[in-house]
Amino acid sequence: MKATWTLPDGSTKTADVAEGTSLMEASVANNIPEIEGACGGCLSCATCHVFVDADWLGKVGDVEVFEDAMLDSTDVERTDASRLSCQIKMSADLDGICLTVPTA
Ligand code: FES
Repeated sequence: MKATWTLPDGSTKTADVAEGTSLMEASVANNIPEIEGACGGCLSCATCHVFVDADWLGKVGDVEVFEDAMLDSTDVERTDASRLSCQIKMSADLDGICLTVPTA
């Protein structure tokens, strides 16, 4: 399964992501430095903030309460497309997902 990130410089990076792997883990493994993932995915850092492209927003599931609270402390202000990528796990439904990395 694949995920594509649009980086702050406008370039894109596509990587293979195994089922069940979080998109934060996948971005760290693929050297996307803007996605730090400092807390390891336990919803306490908000350094894994991404914008989910519109075509995929309906497929990534709802924002849970703790994620919603953490989205208020992202470096780049949240939008309706904001998610914490540690909370999005790759699945067949998300194969091909496109994300945009916030520009600081
Ligand atoms: S990695 Fe810390 S909140 Fe996602």
